Amino acid sequence: MIGSKPRRWFMVQKDSRKISVGEGEEFDLAPESVHLVITSPPYWELKDYGFDDQIGFGQSPQDYMKDLKRILIKKMARAMAPGGIMCVNIGDVYSSASGMFMKWPFGSWLEREFFNSDQWVPLPSILWKKITSTRSNAFLGSGMLPVNAYVTNDIEHILLFRKGNKREFDGEEKMRRKSSEFTKDQRDIWYSQLWDDIPGIGSRGAQQAAWPREIPYRLIRMFSIEGDVVVDPFCGSGIGPIVAAELGRCGIGFDRKDWDKDQALTGTYVPKRYLFKINGRVIAL
Ligand SMILES: C[S@@+](CC[C@H](N)C(=O)[O-])C[C@H]1O[C@@H](n2cnc3c(N)ncnc32)[C@H](O)[C@@H]1O
Repeated sequence: MIGSKPRRWFMVQKDSRKISVGEGEEFDLAPESVHLVITSPPYWELKDYGFDDQIGFGQSPQDYMKDLKRILIKKMARAMAPGGIMCVNIGDVYSSASGMFMKWPFGSWLEREFFNSDQWVPLPSILWKKITSTRSNAFLGSGMLPVNAYVTNDIEHILLFRKGNKREFDGEEKMRRKSSEFTKDQRDIWYSQLWDDIPGIGSRGAQQAAWPREIPYRLIRMFSIEGDVVVDPFCGSGIGPIVAAELGRCGIGFDRKDWDKDQALTGTYVPKRYLFKINGRVIAL
C-alpha cells in the first residue's frame, strides 16, 4: 500500500528550460491540466528500490495491481484533460513465486482494469520487443526436448488509453498541432503495432530499466502537441520529462526515490547530462 511519505517531483518548463523540484502528489496537479501521461511503473518483484511503500517489490500481485490502479486509473484521471492520452509501459512477469512457474499477465490485467473504469477508453496498443542481453531474453527450459520449455519474455506492452472522447483542437491549439506534425516515414514506423527497432538499456546511472530516449521521444511526438503538459508519475532517471521539454512541452516527473539537487548535481542518482543539460545548455537550479 502507498504510505504517507510525499513523492518527489520535478518540472522542466519548455520556455525557460528551468527545472523546479519539490515534494507532492499527483493530486497537486490541477484538475484536467495534463495532456499526456507516459510512464513505466516498477516491475512486479523485479527490483528492490530500497524505500518504504515501494510498488512492485515485496507485494502480492493483487496489491501491486491495486496500487497501479490507484495512481494510474484514479489519480491521473482527475488530472488528465478530456481527450488526453495515457501510455503505460508494463511487462508481464514469469515467476515461480506461487510455487509453480507461470506468467503473471500484468499487461492484459491492467488493460482490463482500465477497460472496466468509467473514464478511460482502451486504444490499439504497442508491443515493444526489447533487444537486450539481460536474462529476460533467455530460453527457459533445458535442452531441446519438447513440452516443458517456455517461450522467452522479451516483449513489453505499451498500453494506450484515452480519457473519454477524442481531443478537440481550436484556436491557437490548431496552430500548435500543425507545428507538431511528423513525417510520413515517422508515421509508418511509429504507428506500427510492433516496435522491434529500439534496444532496451539495462540501467542509466543508478536507475534500473531506464528508457532509451527513443521511447519517450516517439510517444510524446505521437500523442501530444507543442506546449502540452506531459507527466510521468514514475519518472526514475527523469528522461520522460526531459525529452518532453526538449520537444517544447512542459515535462513533470514524480518518483518516490529520494533524489535531490545535490545528488543530481553530483550525478549519484540522476546523471547530470540528463537533468541539467538540455539542447546543449547546462541548466542550473
Ligand atoms: C521502471 S522504473 C522507471 C524508469 C523510468 N522510465 C526511466 O526511464 O528512468 C520505476 C520507478 O518507479 C519508482 N517507484 C517505485 N515505487 C514507487 C512509489 N510508491 N511511488 C513512486 N515511485 C515509485 C522507482 O523509484 C523507479 O524509479
